[in-house]
Amino acid sequence: MDLLVVGSGLFGLTIAERAADAGRDVVIIDRRDHLGGNAYSEADPDTGIEVHRYGAHLFHTSNPTVWEYVNRFTAFTDYVHRVYTTHGGVVYPLPINLGTINQFFSSARTPDQARALVREQAGEFDPRTARSLEERGIGLIGRPLYEAFIRDYTAKQWQTDPRELPAEVISRLPVRYTYDNRYFNDTWEGLPVEGYTAWLERMADHPRIEVRLETDFFDETQPLNRRDTVGQVPIVYTGPVDRYFDYAEGELGWRTLDFEREVLPVGDFQGTSVMNYADADVPYTRIHEFRHFHPERADRYPSDRTVVMREYSRFAERDDEPYYPVGTPADRARLLAYRDLSAGEPGVHFGGRLGTYQYLDMHMAIGSALSMWRNDLAA
Ligand code: FDA
Repeated sequence: MDLLVVGSGLFGLTIAERAADAGRDVVIIDRRDHLGGNAYSEADPDTGIEVHRYGAHLFHTSNPTVWEYVNRFTAFTDYVHRVYTTHGGVVYPLPINLGTINQFFSSARTPDQARALVREQAGEFDPRTARSLEERGIGLIGRPLYEAFIRDYTAKQWQTDPRELPAEVISRLPVRYTYDNRYFNDTWEGLPVEGYTAWLERMADHPRIEVRLETDFFDETQPLNRRDTVGQVPIVYTGPVDRYFDYAEGELGWRTLDFEREVLPVGDFQGTSVMNYADADVPYTRIHEFRHFHPERADRYPSDRTVVMREYSRFAERDDEPYYPVGTPADRARLLAYRDLSAGEPGVHFGGRLGTYQYLDMHMAIGSALSMWRNDLAA
């Protein structure tokens, strides 16, 4: 073995694939019973509908290197992501755009008129000196839009009143003064034609790559553990950085999500893939309906059943899946201490969203793995 990769998410898979292509023998271990990390998906056993087990994953990028790279393993559909939100029993398009504004204010404002309205309503606070998320939110888009679309949704995401949340949690709240409600602005966007798992498995399908599942790096009863490998073989570690150092500098804060999956006896539950719920009286933040990610599979999916997944957000305990870094000032101080410790680990490269305590979209995880390969490992 020339390289041990801990974690088979997109970061680890990209490193492993590049290394194998360059003639290195690679072993990937993952503690889960499947590869692919959080991008993994599976066919729902009742309906055959592809379900993203760890939350909806939409691929998008403007990076030509990443786009060329991922297309070696899968083709992409022409799916374009759009999100809607329910507030006060009415459905509005997101991100907040001219359609949202005119529907909300029952008006027919032009772009300039809408801009003037939002500017006037936002005058209540200066976002630069805001003392809380609420003040900054109002300072960016005005109180009416903030209270309708941001306040309660944010409170559900953070289980905290936005008046108590630091202003830094949001830097901007995009408002579009057109009717364009494409969710992503990237050059390329789509879903893997044969599903995520086929894509991810293809990346690992190389005679020089061995994948060992249900194998935890910290389990000393399996041979490829931390104690017996560090300093012996180059390692790319994509698990949580605080766990690697036995939480010596304290635990980094994460938010997690709980998913409630249900098969419903209707052909179409909500008419779209993601519906947010902006109000406090609905406990979940959104509902995913997976059939809508693949309209091109309509003839293969049942017409009388559908799979939905309600999403609830909360702070993560140690045994929960870490999804989004919280990033308080204390977290950032701990992260710096962990970076110093990481620099002293012989032959261990920390990468991916858990290893660097950063939210990374898939294209960012792949792009950063390609850079690590090129800069630190290829020579
Ligand atoms: P990832 O978490 O995928 O992989 C890490 C792997 O390491 C896991 O398989 C884990 O089991 C393994 N591991 C950890 N500790 C270990 C140990 N001790 N021993 C062995 N293995 C260990 N991106 C995007 O582009 N579009 C989107 O729509 C979304 N949507 C989205 C929704 C949600 C809810 C989340 C949380 C994230 C997204 N993402 C996304 C981001 C996407 O999931 C992310 O870019 C990739 O997961 C990053 O891949 P990594 O390899 O860094 O981590």
